Amino acid sequence: MEALEALKTRKSAALLSEPAPDKSELSDMFAAALRAPDHGCLRPWRFICFQGEQRNSLGEILKEALLVKDADASDAAIEKELNKPLRAPLVIAVIAKVTIETKIPVIEQVISAGAAAQNIMIAAHALGYAGIWRSGAPCFDDHVRARLGAVGEDQIVGFLYIGTAKKVPPLPELNIQDYVFEWHSVS
Ligand SMILES: Cc1cc2nc3c(=O)[nH]c(=O)nc-3n(C[C@H](O)[C@H](O)[C@H](O)COP(=O)(O)O)c2cc1C
Repeated sequence: MEALEALKTRKSAALLSEPAPDKSELSDMFAAALRAPDHGCLRPWRFICFQGEQRNSLGEILKEALLVKDADASDAAIEKELNKPLRAPLVIAVIAKVTIETKIPVIEQVISAGAAAQNIMIAAHALGYAGIWRSGAPCFDDHVRARLGAVGEDQIVGFLYIGTAKKVPPLPELNIQDYVFEWHSVS
């Protein structure tokens, strides 16, 4: 798909199935991620892929996090956590690996990781796949953070659920003029 067309038509899809991008397509998606703008060239990005059986490991981490918070969690609540990563054939955890010993503000490093995440979503869409960027409590949970190697100021910026859309939702109709303005100087 042509680049501008991909940018203008990306849409989240929550209902996902196989197939996921193959090895070569994934490589293209990560090459796109590594072109995220990056103040100071700190490369503040880490991507952890969970595919196939590996998704169960992420489910276990989410289950452990639940049990740390609520040792009496119901079987249904535990099952829900275990099943979350199974909602797509591929889940990519995107982590902003933050450097403190630099003049580049933490927020700029986190934004860079967000831009890398978006490049992945756009690239997946351009390749004919779909997905949804999810965050929620797991991004901020100490246990999940520790298990994914997020320490100190590091941030889990999201979990990218990627696969083939079972249903392609319609694009919302947004008017550019509602968000874009000409500067009128005050004189
Ligand atoms: C940082 C971030 C975190 C998000 N977390 C969630 C989430 O946990 N659950 C969810 O349903 N959508 C989440 N979203 C929103 C979806 O990814 C998506 O943007 C939204 O459903 C609107 O759909 P669209 O992208 O097709 O416009 C998040 C988006 C961002 C940028």
